[in-house]
Amino acid sequence: MERLQKYLSSCGVASRRKSEELISQGKVKVNGKVVTELGIKVTDKDEVCVDNVKVAKQEKEYYLLYKPEKIICSVHDEKGRTTVVDLIDTQEKIFPIGRLDYDTSGLLLLTNDGEITNKLTHPSKNIEKTYYVKVDGIVTYKDINELENGIVLDGIKTKKAKAKIRKIDKQNNKSYVELTITEGRNHQVKNMFASLNHKVLKLKRIKYAFFTLDNLSVGEYRKLTIKEVKQLYNYVK
Ligand code: URA
Repeated sequence: MERLQKYLSSCGVASRRKSEELISQGKVKVNGKVVTELGIKVTDKDEVCVDNVKVAKQEKEYYLLYKPEKIICSVHDEKGRTTVVDLIDTQEKIFPIGRLDYDTSGLLLLTNDGEITNKLTHPSKNIEKTYYVKVDGIVTYKDINELENGIVLDGIKTKKAKAKIRKIDKQNNKSYVELTITEGRNHQVKNMFASLNHKVLKLKRIKYAFFTLDNLSVGEYRKLTIKEVKQLYNYVK
């Protein structure tokens, strides 16, 4: 038995909140009757329809993709450009967990599991994300200190982070930094460096929680193992 809105989201209809709206709008029928109450519980034996179309539980799928640059990180693109979902061969309605910019490459998880997505993207979970960043100019230890202790972006200080200089290329006036943050604010890494007057030239996510890009080339992906999925659930408990 599970609540109707949870059942709808596990069928891939919409998020739990959107599913509640569909119920309130009278778009959901259980065994032929419109249900507008949010508390009702259903089982797999009930016939649940949305807009008169029967819905069914989806198998849960989990992928780790090495996102290339110049690929849109969403499910659809109105201009018909390739999205991260197009790179994965599946019939299931998967979506990315969080976002990477169009010009950012690296590690991206995708799934049709709304529950784990909500947990991983919730700010209270402080999931570590590590980026390898190439920037213009010479990064100093003062910059590193500021990156680690927080930078005010749009009036709010970023949370504590970890930063390490990986390489300084004096000849070309470029620096390479590994930065680990636990938030997912819009263009956060680019904006943190911009506030220190370093333009980000290349950005790659190399780690997400305990996942790395090991054994994957750009554009390649793999399914998570059952063990990894369990580990991920434990990680966000
Ligand atoms: N920070 C950014 O600025 N861009 C990304 O894609 C990810 C983190």
